[in-house]
Amino acid sequence: MTGSQPSTNYTYLEHDAKFSESKIWNYQRSYFDSKGINAWVGGVPYYVTSNSVIAHSYAQVVFRYYQDGLRTGLINKEERLYIIELGTGPGRFSYQFLTFLNQFIENYATEPMNFCYVMTDFTGSNIEYWQNHERIKPLVEKGIVDFAIYDIGANQDIQLINQKITLSKNSCQNPLIVIANYIFDTVTHDVFRAKDGKLEEGLISLKTEQDNIASDEHLKNLDKLQTEFNYKEITADYYPDQNLNQVLAYYQENIKDTTFLIPTGAIQCINHLREISNNKLLIISADKGYTSMESLEGRGTPHIAFHGSFSMMVNFDALARYAELNSGDHCLASATEGIKLSLLSFGNKLDGMPETRWAYNEFIQRFCTKEFLLIKNELIDHVKELTLTEMLALMKLSYWDPDILVAIAPDFSEKIHQQQYDITFREELREGLTQVYKNFYYIPNYKNPIFAIAQLHHVIHDFELSLKLYEESIEKYGDNAATQMNMGVCYYYMKDNIKALRKFKTAIEMEPDNNSAKEWLKYLRENR
Ligand SMILES: C[S@@+](CC[C@H](N)C(=O)[O-])C[C@H]1O[C@@H](n2cnc3c(N)ncnc32)[C@H](O)[C@@H]1O
Repeated sequence: MTGSQPSTNYTYLEHDAKFSESKIWNYQRSYFDSKGINAWVGGVPYYVTSNSVIAHSYAQVVFRYYQDGLRTGLINKEERLYIIELGTGPGRFSYQFLTFLNQFIENYATEPMNFCYVMTDFTGSNIEYWQNHERIKPLVEKGIVDFAIYDIGANQDIQLINQKITLSKNSCQNPLIVIANYIFDTVTHDVFRAKDGKLEEGLISLKTEQDNIASDEHLKNLDKLQTEFNYKEITADYYPDQNLNQVLAYYQENIKDTTFLIPTGAIQCINHLREISNNKLLIISADKGYTSMESLEGRGTPHIAFHGSFSMMVNFDALARYAELNSGDHCLASATEGIKLSLLSFGNKLDGMPETRWAYNEFIQRFCTKEFLLIKNELIDHVKELTLTEMLALMKLSYWDPDILVAIAPDFSEKIHQQQYDITFREELREGLTQVYKNFYYIPNYKNPIFAIAQLHHVIHDFELSLKLYEESIEKYGDNAATQMNMGVCYYYMKDNIKALRKFKTAIEMEPDNNSAKEWLKYLRENR
């Protein structure tokens, strides 16, 4: 039981349902349906799977897998390779991934890569958002991106909205590459308890306060849901799928005492995608979860993490065993704390794919988003103590991530302004800022990297470019005194005092106490 104890205000929504069939998943669906793109503003966790480091790592794995595939004959270069992203959400990962993949192809591929990246979600409003997104549109026009409504668990064909192509049973000659970030934790699971060779299924009961139930029967606030599990012994052959029963049987025999999940939504989706791809599937997935049987041991009631929507720990150990039983393979993240990034291959062993395994080990296992977040948090907390070169190194470590620039821009620009720097520093920063701009993907009401990029160009005296970026910042995020003030300074150094004067005046109108703007105005008037 979570939270406080029952009172007369509580209403039971369901009793003893099989977890994967519980109403809780319908509540989850309506949360994403109703929020659409706004689910990411202060609600659903997001940055850990949507930063330049993870996008770069995944692009490395896909690029290397393609090379391995060509060499081994697994991939036919005459046929298109489809990369499908499940539960895409806002699309920032997709865009950054494609930015890196296209750079790798341009710089290192011996021949063009014939591929299409399919962004999918079950929420129509997300698709509408991508369809109109300035960063995605050119990729759609080039034919390397398309969209599809894909509801995990519905086993529906994948219909590419723009290219009017349908991916259905056996329609892909090449393997399907599937990107599944923070999605297997969001779709259905079953709960089991194993003890002393006995296996029980977990049955869920749900209740909430009466005033949390909306008129359409959905919940106003998922966090106020209270859950309770009862357990009932089960017999062998629980699932119609014998491979899945083998996984259960393995746990029954080998686990001492624990409660564990079987990610049924993920497995159903995997089996559907295997049908489309003639059982040739590579899944790259990031989620909270367990990647060894040891780490599954000794667990109590499964934790349901509420954060606007809710999520479960993904049993990657079960997914890996399931892949093996389906002529597949895996590279699983180590069992240490934090998000787990794993590769699951179906219908193909990875021993003959050295570049893929190398890319996984180097770019995912050794150092990726989890390690990056730990280091960047520490460095950002101590940003004032960093030297200019250390700040530049942090930006490089982040593969020029826009959010990192936003976090350090005030201190970075202040230090550049105060200190001597040489021409190589300026050139590296300039080139890096171009990459930050390339990595930028607009999400409404989210951080504003355009202002940060403008500010940095400004302090290294790229005034013209800086002005353009300040304009873009106003267009996308609205106007304010700081932007007007900075534009005024740019005009001053470009020797356009009339425009500079106008900008300082506007800054003062917007913020009457803006002393810097007042001083600049005074200075300009005195030195006309
Ligand atoms: C937790 S978010 C993850 C978004 C993104 N992949 C990330 O890493 O930030 C889950 C996304 O999956 C979508 N989703 C939830 N349930 C789904 C389902 N059954 N089928 C397809 N998409 C689903 C939601 O609309 C949402 O965009």
